[in-house]
Amino acid sequence: MDQTKQRIEALREELDKHNYDYYVLSNPTISDFEFDKKLQELSDLETLHPEFFDPNSPTQRVGSDINKSFKQVSHKYPMLSLGNTYTKDEVTDFYNRVQKGLNDDFEIVCELKYDGTSISLTYINGELTQAITRGDGVQGDDVTANVRTIRSIPLRLQGNDYPFEFEIRGEILMPWSVFDALNKEREEQEEALFANPRNAGSGTLKQQDPKIVASRKLDSYLYYMLGEDLPTDGHYENLMKAKEWGFKISDAMRKCKTLEEIFEYIAYWDVERKNLPVATDGIVLKVNSLTQQRNLGFTSKFPRWAIAYKFQAEKAVTTLESVSYQVGRTGAVTPVANLKPVKLSGTTVKRASLYNEDYINQLDLHINDQVYVEKGGEIIPKITAVDTSKRGIFDDKIFFTKVCPECGTPLVKDEGEAIYYCPNDISCPPQIKGRIEHFCTRKAMNIACGPETVELLYNAGFIKNVADLYSLRWQDVSRLERWAEKSARNLVDSIQASANVPYEKVLFALGIRYVGETVAKKLARAFPNIDALKAASVETLIQVDEIGDRIAQSIVKYFSEDSNQEVIDRLREVGLKFELSEDVMAQRTDKLNGLTIVISGTFEKHSRDEYKDMIEQNGGKNSGSISSKTSYILAGDNMGPAKLEKAEKLGVSIIGEDEFLEMIK
Ligand code: IVH
Repeated sequence: MDQTKQRIEALREELDKHNYDYYVLSNPTISDFEFDKKLQELSDLETLHPEFFDPNSPTQRVGSDINKSFKQVSHKYPMLSLGNTYTKDEVTDFYNRVQKGLNDDFEIVCELKYDGTSISLTYINGELTQAITRGDGVQGDDVTANVRTIRSIPLRLQGNDYPFEFEIRGEILMPWSVFDALNKEREEQEEALFANPRNAGSGTLKQQDPKIVASRKLDSYLYYMLGEDLPTDGHYENLMKAKEWGFKISDAMRKCKTLEEIFEYIAYWDVERKNLPVATDGIVLKVNSLTQQRNLGFTSKFPRWAIAYKFQAEKAVTTLESVSYQVGRTGAVTPVANLKPVKLSGTTVKRASLYNEDYINQLDLHINDQVYVEKGGEIIPKITAVDTSKRGIFDDKIFFTKVCPECGTPLVKDEGEAIYYCPNDISCPPQIKGRIEHFCTRKAMNIACGPETVELLYNAGFIKNVADLYSLRWQDVSRLERWAEKSARNLVDSIQASANVPYEKVLFALGIRYVGETVAKKLARAFPNIDALKAASVETLIQVDEIGDRIAQSIVKYFSEDSNQEVIDRLREVGLKFELSEDVMAQRTDKLNGLTIVISGTFEKHSRDEYKDMIEQNGGKNSGSISSKTSYILAGDNMGPAKLEKAEKLGVSIIGEDEFLEMIK
C-alpha cells in the first residue's frame, strides 16, 4: 500500500483511540499538545491527498464549512417516546402489567433518563453513516455533519464483532459546565440566555455551522440499539457490547428483578443525580429480554415494555403580579416576572426570568395568572405553565413593551433576533449607568466604583459618561451623603490609577456591543492604536481572526457616532492608553511584511504558538497550508514527506528555527 495512505490510516486509528480515551473514558494517555501535533500532521496529509478523504476522519470533527439547511430523512424504525409516570404506584402498576403480560421470569433494566435531544445514529460496516434527530418520530433532520463534531460519538467502531448494519439511539447533551460558561458569555454580550442545557444543546445541534457546534463541546449517552442481527437477546448485554465498540454508555445502568430493587435505584439517583455533569429528569425502566420486549409489543404510542419515571421538579404555584423590563448597558430589554413571594426549595422566589417576547407569547401570560414556578437546574427560577382555569375575564394579556420602559423610545429588533433593544444609547439612563459600571469593572478599568456608587454619582449629576469620571474631585464627592474624605479620595485615586490600564483593556472597557475581552485583545493586536481601529472598514475588520460580520458592523457603527468619538477624545486627553504598550510595540517590526509563512513540524526553541505570534509581531501572515502564495515554510523536526514534496514542487523555500530567528533579529 501507498506509504502516505498507510501513514494516514495509522494516524486516524491512533487519534480515534485518543479521542475515545479522552471523551469516553475520561482517561487521556497523551498530552493535548501531542494530540494536536498528530492531528495537524493528519490534516496536512489529507489536504495534500484529497483522494484519501474520509468523512469519518478525526480531522472532520472540527466541523467543515458546509452550510446548508438540513435534509429531512425518514427513520427506518419510528422513534417513539415513553409513557410517563410520577409515582411509586404507577411504577408498581407497570411492573404488574409486565408480569401479567409475560407470565414468566423477567429482568428490568433501570437507567437514567437523560434530558437532552434524542438522536438516532446509523453505523454500516463499523462507520457512522447518518445521524438523525427525532423530528416527528417518523422523519427527522439529518444532522450528521454536526454530530460528527461530538467527540464522544465514535466515527468508526473498535473491535470487529459489531453487526454489519445497526442503529443506536441516545441523547445529545450539553454538560452543565459548558451551559454555564455559554450563558455567562452570552450575558456579557447581552445576548438572549438559554433557559436550560436541553434548549442550548438542541439549539446547538440545529446550528447551520458545524464549527459552532464543535466549539460548544456537546456530549452523548447511548441507550437503545436496533437492528436485524444484534449480538445478544439482552438489552443490557448489547449496550455492554456497544461500550466495547467505543460508545459512551452510562455506568448508572442496573439490572433489577424486584420492585424493591427498582425503588432503591430511584431513591438513590433522585439525590445522586444532582452531582452528575449532565441534566437528567427521571429514570427509564426497560424489560431486558428483546424476545420479551417483542412479546409485549407497543400501544398506539408507547412501548409496553418500557416506561419513564419522572423526578419531581421543585415547583410552586403563585400569582403573577406584573412584568417589568430591565434595560442593560447595550440597550437590550429583558422581561422579568414579578411574583407574589413564594417558598421554593428553601428560598423565597419573587421574580422569574421570562427571557424574551416569544417566551411570554408561548405561555400566553395574563396579569394575575396563577403560574407554576420551577427551579430545575437553572440559575433563575422560571415559569413553566399557567393555570388558565383560574383566570378572571378582566385579567389583561401581557404584550411585550414596544417602548423603552426607562426613556420611552420605541424599541427595535434585528431580524432573526429574539431580543429588543432601546436605540437611545445617548440618553437612556440605565444604558448610561450600565456603560459606566462596565467601564469600572475589574476586567476593564479596575476602578473601585460599583453599581451603587455609579447610581449615586449619576443622580448627583456628577457623571453622564465615562469621561466625566476623570473630572471628579474628591472635595465634591465627599460632600455626598455618607461619603467621608477618605473614601472620596480613594475613589478619585483609583480613577486616576486607571490611566495605566493597557490598551486592550481600555478597548474592552468602552463597551462596544459584541466586543468582549477576547475580541478586544484580538483587535488591539490587529489595530495597534485606536485611530487604526476607527479607520478600519467592515471588510478590513473581518480579515482578523474570529472577527465576524456582526462584530465588525458593531465596531463601525460605534465609531460613526459623534458622542462616542467625543468620549474617546476626552479619555485620550486625560491620558488613557489608546495604543499598544511600548513593550509590545518594541517587539513589533515589519521585517516580515508581505510574507506568508507556513509552520510545520515540531520545534526546540519555541512552541508553535510562540512562532505564530512572532510572525504576526513582525508583520507577517500565518497560513495553514502550502500554496503558490506561501513565501516560506518554517520547518521543524518531523515535517511530513508529503509537505516537503509539495514545497519542492512549488519551489517554496524551507527555513529552520535558527534561520527564522535570524530573520527577525
Ligand atoms: S429509551 C422506545 N432510554 O426520553 C424507547 N429514552 O420519552 C425509546 N430518554 O425520546 C427511548 N434517557 O429522548 C430511553 N435511558 C433512556 C433515556 C431516554 C432519555 C429520552 C429519549 C426519549 C424520551 C422518552
